[in-house]
Amino acid sequence: MAASLDGFIARKDGRVDWLETSDEFVGGATMEPGFVEAFLKTIDCYVMGSRTYETALRFAEHGFGWSYGDKPTFVLTSRELPRIRDTVELYSGDLAEFVNGRLRPAFRSIWFVGGGVVSGECLRLGLADELRYSVLPIVIGDGIPFFEKLGRDVALHLAEVTAYKSGMVELRYEVRR
Ligand SMILES: NC(=O)c1ccc[n+]([C@@H]2O[C@H](COP(=O)([O-])OP(=O)(O)OC[C@H]3O[C@@H](n4cnc5c(N)ncnc54)[C@H](OP(=O)(O)O)[C@@H]3O)[C@@H](O)[C@H]2O)c1
Repeated sequence: MAASLDGFIARKDGRVDWLETSDEFVGGATMEPGFVEAFLKTIDCYVMGSRTYETALRFAEHGFGWSYGDKPTFVLTSRELPRIRDTVELYSGDLAEFVNGRLRPAFRSIWFVGGGVVSGECLRLGLADELRYSVLPIVIGDGIPFFEKLGRDVALHLAEVTAYKSGMVELRYEVRR
């Protein structure tokens, strides 16, 4: 996910207006055209929390489209939420059983979209192999943390760092076992 320097992925009310920053880091990398599309092709399925899904639904309602293409998208929820597409499946139950028993045998690259509750749960249960954390050049003081209720230490290995012209720093970590 993308976070403010102080570790928040959204404001308390869910707003992500601060994601658009106007910094310039001289000498930073630029994203090659087609990079994002090529990267998205490597993802086999998405998993997200219901609040992140509700944000995606609002985006779609406002004409910004659906970011997850035709890839299977699993929404974790105990509620009956509308399914925006046939590729969306709602799931409620044991997350470790779902990921290890159902998703891993079927998909190679499983992308946890977020938000904070799901990323905390995912790390706590030892389900993540890799963590991607993009730091934006802004401090917002309060909000929804990247990892909710983690409850334990998780040691990481820093595998890749890219600083972009926009001032965003992308960190890729591998979870150490
Ligand atoms: N900056 C970024 O890159 C980024 C990326 C993603 C999201 N976000 C933002 O993050 C915010 C949402 O984050 P969040 O931490 O509040 O919520 P979240 O992680 O998106 O969703 C949490 C909800 O998912 C459901 N859930 C979680 N684990 C479950 C499980 N194992 N089984 C069944 N249901 C489960 C529960 O809701 P139910 O009540 O439905 O059961 C839970 O309250 C949004 O504002 C979104 O825009 C930002």
